[in-house]
Amino acid sequence: MRGMGTQDVIDLTEKYQMGNYTRNPVVFVRGEGARLFDAEGREYLDFLGGIAVAILGHTHPEVTRAVTVQARNLLHVSNLFHVPIQSEAARLISEATIGGKVFFCNSGTEANEAAIKLARKWTADQGKAGVHEFVVLEGSFHGRTYGGLSATGQPKFHKGFEPLLPGFVTVPFGDIAALDDALTEKTCAFLVEPIQGESGVRMHPPGYLKEAERLCRQKGVLLVVDELQTGLGRTGAMLASERFGIAPDIVTLAKGLANGLPLGAVVAREEIAAAFGPGSHGSTFGGNPVCCAAAKVVIETLRFPGFLDEVIRKGEILRKGLEEIAAGRTDVRKVRGLGMMQAMELDADAKEAARTCLRNGLVVNATSENVLRFLPPLIVNAAEIRHALELLDASLPPGGRK
Ligand SMILES: Cc1ncc(COP(=O)(O)O)c(C=O)c1O
Repeated sequence: MRGMGTQDVIDLTEKYQMGNYTRNPVVFVRGEGARLFDAEGREYLDFLGGIAVAILGHTHPEVTRAVTVQARNLLHVSNLFHVPIQSEAARLISEATIGGKVFFCNSGTEANEAAIKLARKWTADQGKAGVHEFVVLEGSFHGRTYGGLSATGQPKFHKGFEPLLPGFVTVPFGDIAALDDALTEKTCAFLVEPIQGESGVRMHPPGYLKEAERLCRQKGVLLVVDELQTGLGRTGAMLASERFGIAPDIVTLAKGLANGLPLGAVVAREEIAAAFGPGSHGSTFGGNPVCCAAAKVVIETLRFPGFLDEVIRKGEILRKGLEEIAAGRTDVRKVRGLGMMQAMELDADAKEAARTCLRNGLVVNATSENVLRFLPPLIVNAAEIRHALELLDASLPPGGRK
């Protein structure tokens, strides 16, 4: 809407939208690569990427072209018919991840919801009565719908929404013995993020995921991996599971899958995917042709020779820069992460630090009171990373310098 200033937009949002988000007082109107521009013409470096969504950056020309071409041909036809771009996107996603078959939906929580249903359905189809439990981890985040929420091991997200779904058992983070105890004859699946994103880029102890996989195999429990934030090149591999040497039975994807358009996907081994027979599950918009056109560009770009090597190289520049900043300060407890998913744990108010970064032209977020998270578009260049590090350095509390 022409003529609306920053405050007009904020007032309008507040008047007509529910107050469930804590929004920053910035109005973004345009994006290009790793840069965003606000309504007042100010430029920002985007190291949040729409929360790990803009993996190819903003207004990527190939994505824009593919989406425009598809929008001219067909927006939607329902899943009662076949659509070329949808079948092609599914092939690419399957080939690029774990093989097997794909179910399309529209968001991350919906992908996890479908994965929960698929795992339970497959288990029931095996004639295993009463084997329905999901084991999940403390600190996990799997979404906001009731399945995703029930799987989320953070009570703060549950408050006021009880009762949750039955059948979710939460075990402590990083404790393989506790996991072993929790995987019983009632367990259908272990649901895990390769790195816990929303609770502050928390890395499992070395060897944990591999050992968890071994326990799942030994006990006949499905390994369901939530790669919504870690997947699609974020850690320098198509899936973070590859980096940790594990082979999921079911993987969930969303976020960057269509580089900003709403698309989620569940990928399952062929045998498990067979449990979703006709009429078992569905989504009106799932696999929308325009979103699939964007997903095709995303997967093809990620598979371009050398692309993921570059992500690793640039992730190292980011990591090294964060560590250098940390070394010069007394208020940084830890730098952690993998590839282009990094975090800085502070001995200071991370939310305030994120607000200062924003005022200085760097978009980042705080996942908790003391953790700053960095999820830049994968196409960010080395000069932009260095500039972001300078902005960060200038934004952290002056009193924390050594
Ligand atoms: C690991 C993980 N799972 C699930 C979700 C929920 O995804 P969505 O917001 O698309 O429903 C998120 C979102 O941050 C996530 O990071």
